[in-house]
Amino acid sequence: MQLSGKIAFIGGGAMAEAILKRLLLAGLVQPEQITVAEPVPGRREFLASAYGVQVDAVNRSAASGAAILVLAVKPQVLDKVLPDLAGVLQPETLVISIMAGVRISSLHRGLGHERLVRSMPNTPAQVGKGMTVWTATPAVTSEDKGQAQMILEAMGDAFFVDDEHAIDLATGLSGSGPGFVFLLVEGLIDAGVHIGFSRAQAERMVLQTVEGSIALLRESGAHPADLRNRVTSPGGTTAAGSLVLEQRAVRAALIEAVAAASARSAELGDLSEGA
Ligand SMILES: NC(=O)c1ccc[n+]([C@@H]2O[C@H](COP(=O)([O-])OP(=O)(O)OC[C@H]3O[C@@H](n4cnc5c(N)ncnc54)[C@H](OP(=O)(O)O)[C@@H]3O)[C@@H](O)[C@H]2O)c1
Repeated sequence: MQLSGKIAFIGGGAMAEAILKRLLLAGLVQPEQITVAEPVPGRREFLASAYGVQVDAVNRSAASGAAILVLAVKPQVLDKVLPDLAGVLQPETLVISIMAGVRISSLHRGLGHERLVRSMPNTPAQVGKGMTVWTATPAVTSEDKGQAQMILEAMGDAFFVDDEHAIDLATGLSGSGPGFVFLLVEGLIDAGVHIGFSRAQAERMVLQTVEGSIALLRESGAHPADLRNRVTSPGGTTAAGSLVLEQRAVRAALIEAVAAASARSAELGDLSEGA
């Protein structure tokens, strides 16, 4: 299956590159179908030469005639970008926003457009292992939804939610999640160094341990608690270590961290709406 028509990206940064790279790798689009609007000349040259896509310094001309438009700028510049696009989109253009914390109502107001998808990807999208949660306005047809799912799935896993509130929740869990995982991994590597391994050895051991644990979880289909019980022998090493983690309330800290990130996402959404 292929996507048809012109696909325009507004903003040619890290996330736009992750999406277009994966779409091309998966053979879902041809490079000629893609136009990227990007203000930095060096970045435009790079995207054109690395991927063979069209580039444009002007948002309006990049967006003109697009079947699908991906909004991939930082939320801070959105106020500058939306007026560029108002009136240039056809009613049937599918607009997909990947911008953190920008509500559908803000996009609707700024663009005067009905067919809107709001998505929340995460950075592992850059290696095809992203997690994206997305929602859409009622004007988005089932065919549009199929296309949105195909585009977002090119970055990894993706699923649709009916309620936009779930996007703020997803921002706290899968959006900020890589940041939390990197912090935990960093801590484990430091622990390895602390007990006497070289940093390179500790890094190798921790990355493989984390990756292997996830693979085991996925392949066995077992509950994490079940797998944890299986490595926790009575009076053993894992029991001794787990007690420290429970005493330091690591589980509660994770719950609070995700809840705080989700609440912050909702707060940023309020701010961007001027509420
Ligand atoms: N990175 C993540 O983990 C992640 C995850 C989920 C969602 N997102 C969302 O994805 C969006 C893009 O993030 P990113 O990490 O790809 O950011 P980024 O690398 O900074 O990309 C944004 C790009 O847009 C360009 N730009 C700035 N002003 C513009 C304008 N007026 N018109 C057109 N393009 C303009 C920027 O150019 P300059 O370099 O000149 O500024 C930059 O190349 C953000 O809204 C973010 O919230 C990011």
